[in-house]
Amino acid sequence: MKLPPPPRSPDAAQPDITRKQLERLYKRESNYWLLSAVLLIFLSATVILQFLTAGDWLPDTFLLNPQYRRTLSIGLPGLVIVFCLYITSKRREISRLKITLYDQRTLLDRLEERKKELEKTLAELRRVSTLKDNLLSTVSHELKNPLASIHSVSQILITYGDKDAESRDRFYKLISNETKRLSNLVGNLLDLAKIEAGKLVWDLSVQDPRDVLHAALAVSGVLAAERNIVLREETRSELPPLLIDRDRVIQVITNLVGNAVKFTPDGGTITVSARQTTDRGKKVVRFGVRDTGPGVAAEQKDRIFEWFHQAPRADGRKIEGSGLGLAISREIVDHFGGRIWVESKPRQGSEFFFTLPVTPKAEHPAAPADSPSRERPLASVR
Ligand SMILES: Nc1ncnc2c1ncn2[C@@H]1O[C@H](COP(=O)(O)OP(=O)(O)OP(=O)(O)O)[C@@H](O)[C@H]1O
Ligand SMILES: [Mg+2]
Repeated sequence: MKLPPPPRSPDAAQPDITRKQLERLYKRESNYWLLSAVLLIFLSATVILQFLTAGDWLPDTFLLNPQYRRTLSIGLPGLVIVFCLYITSKRREISRLKITLYDQRTLLDRLEERKKELEKTLAELRRVSTLKDNLLSTVSHELKNPLASIHSVSQILITYGDKDAESRDRFYKLISNETKRLSNLVGNLLDLAKIEAGKLVWDLSVQDPRDVLHAALAVSGVLAAERNIVLREETRSELPPLLIDRDRVIQVITNLVGNAVKFTPDGGTITVSARQTTDRGKKVVRFGVRDTGPGVAAEQKDRIFEWFHQAPRADGRKIEGSGLGLAISREIVDHFGGRIWVESKPRQGSEFFFTLPVTPKAEHPAAPADSPSRERPLASVR
């Protein structure tokens, strides 16, 4: 329901007028009114007194007719004072109305503010409720299916495992893939829960972007090789060090390369790049992942970064995954003050970019002589 706009008083044009100033005005008008009333009482008393004493208080030379003189001496000042009294009482009324109007406007403004707050809360509640619904359906579908396949394949292995070595290897691979899928989903769901609760922990350190890129490619390279996809790296110039959470940035790159592998046909090419550039006036390192897949439709370019959103496929088939990877990547990039986006022309592949701002050296924490990034085992990379 939309509330009507608050009525605007003549003072609305002067937003700096305060209630105190209006009260002062009302007090002044009340004083004038009181003065007029006192004068009228004084005049009436004088006239009554004159009648009682029957004395003349205008000089003889002023008017000759005594009756006329008397009428004038009473009527004129009386009329003036009655007029003043009328004017001041009206002005007093107007001042009072202004105060009432001011109070109503303040109340309406407060109501408007409250309404906006409530609308915000409602939108947030709707968002959380949709998130919860998506979470439930994802958990039920994405967890149930791999678990069911693992269960039935294990049953087959238990019963016929020793009979056919070729099928046995196929089944083991299936179990391994499904377990990987499950662990990826659980990791993403945990990240979503931490992000929503504001409990994502950031482990900051100064990192060489090339080193981070290589660590991510070591993980994704295996996936690409399995599908006979060429994974190329284009990083020519020296890159400035970045103050980042190494594992989280690796997570973003593996998400993007993982998607590229998923959507690129067998034998395609994925090109990963990192270069120093400026974005909106800031010095940044820009990472890019280009593929030769189906591309992203214009109307989906923003939506694919929303929680659980998956762009519909041309053949209507369900896309493997839960629609969480890009949303998590966006949260990570946003945290470091960067930007993530996709450029694509349908059927001509797509290129995902993300930037990370270069922090001035002075802001870097004192780092040990050899970079911690080189010491960290790859096993810690998800
Ligand atoms: N390289 C790509 N080419 C075409 N479409 C893509 C590409 N990368 C992402 N998309 C679209 O964006 C959607 C969201 O991607 P996102 O990584 O968030 O989820 P997902 O890969 O479907 O599942 P998850 O990453 O949670 O396992 C994808 O489902 C797909 O529709
Ligand atoms: Mg993904």
